[in-house]
Formats: sequence, structure tokens, C-alpha cells
Amino acid sequence: MTAHNNPATILAQLQKIVGEHGILTDQDASVHYQDRRGRYSGQALAVVFPTTTQQVAQVVSLCVAQGIAIIPQGGNTGMCGGSVPLAASDQMGEQIVLNLSRMNRVCNIDEINYTMTVEAGCTLQQAKLAAEQVNRYFPLGLSAIAAECEIGGNLSTNAGGVNVLRYGMMRDLVLGLEVVLPDGRIWNGLRSLRKDNTGYDLKHLFIGAEGTLGIITTAVLKLFPRLQAQTTAIVAVRDATTAVNLLAHLRATCGDRLSAFEIISRSCLNLVLRHIPDTHEPFTTKYEWQVLIDLADVLPIPLEQSLRDALNTFGDGVLEFFIAPDTHQAAAWWKLRKHISEAQKIEGISIKHDVSVPISRVAEFISLANAALMQQYPDVRIVIFGHIGDGNIHYNPSLPDATKNNVFIAQSAQVNQLIYDIVHSLGGSISAEHGLGQLKRNEIRHYKSALEIELMNNIKQMLDPNNLMNPKKVL
Ligand code: FAD
Ligand code: MLT
Ligand code: ZN
Repeated sequence: MTAHNNPATILAQLQKIVGEHGILTDQDASVHYQDRRGRYSGQALAVVFPTTTQQVAQVVSLCVAQGIAIIPQGGNTGMCGGSVPLAASDQMGEQIVLNLSRMNRVCNIDEINYTMTVEAGCTLQQAKLAAEQVNRYFPLGLSAIAAECEIGGNLSTNAGGVNVLRYGMMRDLVLGLEVVLPDGRIWNGLRSLRKDNTGYDLKHLFIGAEGTLGIITTAVLKLFPRLQAQTTAIVAVRDATTAVNLLAHLRATCGDRLSAFEIISRSCLNLVLRHIPDTHEPFTTKYEWQVLIDLADVLPIPLEQSLRDALNTFGDGVLEFFIAPDTHQAAAWWKLRKHISEAQKIEGISIKHDVSVPISRVAEFISLANAALMQQYPDVRIVIFGHIGDGNIHYNPSLPDATKNNVFIAQSAQVNQLIYDIVHSLGGSISAEHGLGQLKRNEIRHYKSALEIELMNNIKQMLDPNNLMNPKKVL
């Protein structure tokens, strides 16, 4: 692909659309060209910051006319390299980064309909606060990153987080979308209806599409009643089997009040305690597995006793537990969970896996994957944590010795295949919540049927025949 006009002319045309403050080309642009993990980077003609949907549409039309690829970008916190330009070796010709961060208005909140309409560049935190101000709740639970990631990015990755077991993923939290299509037309699907069976539900095409089918500019999000009671427990469990059995028990005894159920292995705790200031071992004994549990209710009622009773009636496998006496203690335990990703990054590179299997098969996955890895790499250290309440495990092996770890990382493809083959054999997914981006676009071909890949390619071809909308991502 080659741009028809010379770069200076194109930059002038872009500047005419978004204004001189709406475009970055110098050193300041470089932060937008590299992903947060430092794994993917490329160069682009410019980073463009539109402030309206009309401007987005004009930028897209210009790019289509000039054969320029568009990389949609929100907070650039994604884990799979979807939000940054392709490297020169991918030979894609000219690209621009289209960053939505300046489109950050909360347009409307309908307290009776329990909905809010927000622009794509609103941070998740901004959206959550706006809901709180009218005594409502927006439940997407990515607290480690909420101040940076944006609603457009959350939608485009179909983000998950810690409250999925109660409220669902981002896909479940949306009623309507406005999207600029790859040909520059604006699709206004900003409906705020809970019931609408009038044909294909097009919004779902764009959710989780990682910017490959169009640019989400505005969304109607579902709101929920604000929570007024919350209690947190940290529970030491014998093993992952106990954890999933406990989850089933809590669902039966606590119902929809169960809002988070996260697992933390010993290796995670060691990393957090080593690298994150002001963190503390939760028990006197150093247990191998701990589970962090939240119950919450919209009524201002005490929940501690219900949780205590549920934990006491569970039976064998719960080794010890504490219920937080106050929100300060609850926050201290959640700090251990929230900072695992950061602590592991500080420690060094690992081979990250974000996988899911049916909840009933999580323990089987962990034991099969551990055995297979240990057989080949006896001193492997495996950091296991995540959303066990959704069957979604973050499974990140590395070797403690730096030199050996470099060799291990160089074998990522073989390690991935070993893990993903096990996941696949258990009916699981190789990307539960982070998407495919550049990271898994090749691997997914081994795990989805040829028919599914064909249908995905057909949809892409129909909406984006010039392959200019985030090319070489996902597909
Ligand atoms: P970006 O990174 O900018 O973009 C992500 C993808 O969406 C890219 O493909 C991009 O092209 C596309 N995109 C962005 N905006 C638009 C738009 N408006 N229209 C079309 N396409 C667009 N994810 C989880 O699911 N659960 C977690 O618990 C979780 N925890 C995290 C913790 C940390 C510390 C970090 C760094 C990340 C975590 N993530 C988690 C990853 C998560 O996917 C992202 O943080 C977030 O959803 C992406 O939002 P963003 O605005 O940063 O998007
Ligand atoms: C999390 O659950 O903390 C995230 O998805 C981040 C990660 O996997 O590192
Ligand atoms: Zn996660």
C-alpha cells in the first residue's frame, strides 16, 4: 500500500480536519507507537486526535482515499499489540494512529433507564465516577488500569476483569454504539433499548473486534444500582480443585451477591511482596493458594455473617480464612491481587497466557500444564492468578535464572503450543479477555475451525475491502 499524496500534503490535510493541536508528529508521538509491555512498536505518519465523530469520519475518508492504514488507539494499555503501528518489517506502507482520548465527554445519563451515553475516549474511571455521581454503578472491574484505559478500548477488547461473574464482560454492558465504518460512513446504533429483535445485532460485530472493523466513537452503557454493602474475605485453600468447589458452594449459598472470586498462587504473592511497597503476607502460614472473595449488595445490610457461614459450612479444603474488619483491610488484600501484573513485569519477562476453560476443568488445566512444563523445564516458575470465577486463568511461566530465562523466552512458540494444546483439549480458549492483536493472530488459526476463520475473513472483507482498518491484527 502506498499513499497517493506526499506525506507533507497528507499531514496538512489531517491538520485541517483536527486542528494544529490535534496532531503529533515529533518525539511526543513516540509513546503512542509502542505498546505498554514494550513488546511491539512501529512508526506512523502521525498520531491524530479528533474531537468529534465528524472529524473521525473525515480522517477515515481521507485515509481511504490515500491508501493509509488506520490504527485506532485508546489508552494504549492493551496486552496484545493491537493499538500500535505495525513494524516496518510488516511493510504496510503509511499508517496513522487515530487516538480517541480527546473524545471524552459523558454525553448523557438516564437514571430511569439506567443507561449512560459516553464517548469512546472517556476513561473507565471517568465513566465509573460519573455513574456514582447519580447513585448508579458501572461495574467493569479493571481497577489496576481504570484511570488509563478508555471505553472505546474496553469495548474493542471486550474487556473482562474481576466482576465478570456477576455482571458479565464489556459486551454484556452495552446497549448501543456509534461507529465510523472503514469507508468513512457513520453508523448510528446509539439505541438504549433492552429489547430490540429487529435483525442482526450489529453492535456485537464491533465489540471485541480490536479496531479491525471500524472505530467506535460513542456508546450507550448499562448502569446498575449502586452497591451499599460490601465484604471481602481472603481464604487459604488446599488446591485449585478446592477453589472451584468453593466457588460452586458460594454461588449456591450467596447467589448474586458474589461479585468477585479471584485466585492467587504463592508465586504471585512472593512477587508482589518483593516488589510492591506496603504489601503484607495475609496469613502467618505461607499457603500455596489463596482466594479473594467479594460479596456486595444494594441494600445497606451486614454481609459478613453470610460469608462466614458459607465458608464455615463448606467443609474440607479451606485451610484458614479472614473476613476484612474494614475497607482498609479489604483494600490491602486487593492490593496484593491488583499489582501482580506490575510486580511480574518488574521481575522480568515471562511468557504470558490468558486462557479460559470450563470452570469445572480449571484444576485439570493447571495440573496438566504444570506437569507438561515441569517435565521440559524442571526449574520453571509458574505465576498463576486470575478470574477463576470465570474459568479464566493468567498462567505465566518464566525461569528464575536470567540467562536461562532468555533461552526460555526464545522458545515462546513451543511453550505456547504446549499450553494451548492442553487448553484446546479441555474445550478452552487461548485468549479469554485480552484479545488477539498481533500477539496471537497466527496461533488462533490452529485453534479455530477453518469455517470460523473463513467467516471472520468474509466479515472483514465485506466491511474493510481495502484492509486499512488496523491491518494484520486479529486476522
Ligand atoms: P488500547 O490498548 O488503546 O486498544 C486496545 C485495542 O482496541 C486495540 O486493538 C485498538 O486498536 C482498539 N481500539 C481502541 N480504541 C478503539 C476505538 N475507539 N474503536 C475501535 N478500536 C479501538 N483486560 C481485561 O480484560 N481484564 C483485566 O483484568 C485487565 N487488566 C489489566 C491490567 C493491566 C495492568 C493492564 C496493563 C491491562 C489490563 N487489561 C485487562 C488489558 C485490557 O484489554 C486493556 O487494559 C483495556 O481494555 C484496553 O483499553 P485501552 O483504552 O487501553 O485500549
Ligand atoms: C489481570 O487480571 O490482572 C490482568 O488481566 C493483567 C494480566 O494478565 O497481567
Ligand atoms: Zn485479567
